[in-house]
Amino acid sequence: MFRRLPEAAGDIIAFTIDGQFAQAFAGDTVAAALLSAGFDHCRTTPVSGARRAPYCMMGVCFDCLVTIDGVGNRQACLIPVRAGMRVVPVPETRLVLQADRKGYFPLIKGR
Ligand code: FES
Repeated sequence: MFRRLPEAAGDIIAFTIDGQFAQAFAGDTVAAALLSAGFDHCRTTPVSGARRAPYCMMGVCFDCLVTIDGVGNRQACLIPVRAGMRVVPVPETRLVLQADRKGYFPLIKGR
């Protein structure tokens, strides 16, 4: 689906995606590296579980959130990939809301 521009190639660096060895060109963003590696999504939506992949590639849509070196919710499209970086797509999380006896849904804290 994605094709790299010939002039975009640079030094090859190694990093991991979900613990698996991966390579990218120096200067690639993490999002570009994920897409180049064949990942079709970075996260899922908390309510429906729908898959989301990098879309805008410029820091607007937040569909590229990943965990990088243990820090969650990083925008992969804004961060250059580095050698040794540990990238983990956000695991599937789904909210299960259950109404109380009066039909109200609980407030969700810490989100
Ligand atoms: S791809 Fe849209 S914010 Fe990263």
